[in-house]
Amino acid sequence: MKIRGIFLAASILTLSIITSAEVYLKETFSDADWEKRWIQSQHRDDLGKFTVSSGNFYADEIESRGLKTSQDAKFYAISTKLNKEFNNTNNDLIVQFSVKHEQNIDCGGGYVKLLPPDFDALSFRGDSPYNIMFGPDICGSVRVVHLIINYKNNNKKLTKQITAPSDQLTHLYTLIIKSDQTYTVLIDNKEEASGKIEVDFNLLPPKEIHDAEAEKPADWDEEPLIPDPDDKKPDDWVDVPRTIPDPKAEKPDDWDDESDGDWEPPHISNPEFKGEWEPKMIENPKYNGTWYTPVIPNPDYKEDKTLHVFNTLYVGFDLWQVKSGTIFDNILITDEIEVAKKFSNETFVKYRDAELEAKRKLDDLETGKTKSESEKTDKEDNLEEDNEDGENDDIVDLDVEIGPGGQVKVTKPDDLPPAQDNKSIQESTTTSESSPSPSSTKDENDELDKSFNEFEEEIGIHRKDEL
Ligand SMILES: *[C@@H]1O[C@H](CO)[C@@H](O)[C@H](O)[C@H]1NC(C)=O
Ligand SMILES: *[C@@H]1O[C@H](CO)[C@@H](O)[C@H](O)[C@H]1NC(C)=O
Ligand SMILES: *[C@@H]1O[C@H](CO)[C@@H](O)[C@H](O)[C@H]1NC(C)=O
Ligand SMILES: *[C@@H]1O[C@H](CO)[C@@H](O)[C@H](O)[C@H]1NC(C)=O
Repeated sequence: MKIRGIFLAASILTLSIITSAEVYLKETFSDADWEKRWIQSQHRDDLGKFTVSSGNFYADEIESRGLKTSQDAKFYAISTKLNKEFNNTNNDLIVQFSVKHEQNIDCGGGYVKLLPPDFDALSFRGDSPYNIMFGPDICGSVRVVHLIINYKNNNKKLTKQITAPSDQLTHLYTLIIKSDQTYTVLIDNKEEASGKIEVDFNLLPPKEIHDAEAEKPADWDEEPLIPDPDDKKPDDWVDVPRTIPDPKAEKPDDWDDESDGDWEPPHISNPEFKGEWEPKMIENPKYNGTWYTPVIPNPDYKEDKTLHVFNTLYVGFDLWQVKSGTIFDNILITDEIEVAKKFSNETFVKYRDAELEAKRKLDDLETGKTKSESEKTDKEDNLEEDNEDGENDDIVDLDVEIGPGGQVKVTKPDDLPPAQDNKSIQESTTTSESSPSPSSTKDENDELDKSFNEFEEEIGIHRKDEL
């Protein structure tokens, strides 16, 4: 009876939390109407196409459907509107979504952007102002989870590093911004980072600083022990030398006093020597302790009670991907962490094992296929099979040029946006930040840009203007 009562109380509690919660967006892409809800940007006419798919391996054909990038080497930009505007002044803000890089991603973004009410879906692009950017970004060996928030029109990056998983399975990303101005990042329901927004995003100068004016007082004594002034050398103390001439040493036979000088035996340590007399040490009565520069309140610090506040009305994906095939799913925006946990239970947690199983089966199938293919020696057989596959259409044709020095240059024609483009947007994004210290975000971009270039070189894509 008692146990049932507790149980009932607990479930009523959960129920009441959940019924008072607001869900601003819950998108599972499991119905045919998703295309009415998501607006494709028209910022440029060569943006990549999103489709809805459960992918090559999945737990449930319908439930595992998500938004998928379907064309290689493309920019993508798509967004949707929340049920209502989310002002998180007095509420927690939770953003949760899953990312499945089932294509075995080489270089591409996988992050969402939370966008303000004045956002224009049709012109959505890299430098559209956003409130929060959150999620994985992988390029070659650089595998980061971005968390960037907009503070007073500056994009401020989380100063902690979070590494993104880069396998082909579905991973769940959860960001919690609490009204007490702390944040938490979870990947697959495991905490990866948390802290105070003010501190970890470098939004405000520190609360306290070391007093630069302060000087150690001249009479400050930092010696904990001093020689005892009352201790006297005992009367019977005999000073003996530290070393003595070696009594066993003998003058060598061939020693010539005239040319070699007077012979002197080498010195050895004196076995009688027990050390110099020293007074014993006592506690220093004037000892003041170690001196530290005093800490004072920072006159430049001003608390901001709204630094965690965003007004969000849209969410979108604005990405660049080299190899496409990423699937985004189960996007949730709410003000109640229990709702996010429950939704995670019903989606990510529920299907995790089945997805892994499906992946194993696919891997087994492919290992089998490779084995039987390698048995074939006829090249034409392979060609035919590729064409039947139909997948061939997605394979990018590369232009190969042999340079005068015999070097091979490979370019991908037409539909590869020059990498420069990706870079120019990046630059305009960073320069539009009038942040006093935009270096953090810029460093990050530089790093990604660098690895992006290295990656291009690795796979042999060269910028057109370099040829
Ligand atoms: C958000 O809510 C707070 C508290 O209710 C309010 O003071 C603020 O004006 C709101 N901001 C906007 C842009 O609506
Ligand atoms: C260019 O693409 C790479 C790969 O996703 C990404 O890391 C970088 O942020 C992109 N730059 C812009 C400005 O979109
Ligand atoms: C250091 O300690 C001595 C003895 O306790 C005290 O008289 C003196 O005022 C101290 N000096 C300072 C600078 O605090
Ligand atoms: C999620 O599942 C775990 C494990 O089954 C359970 O303990 C927890 O109460 C669930 N959370 C919600 C909010 O349903």
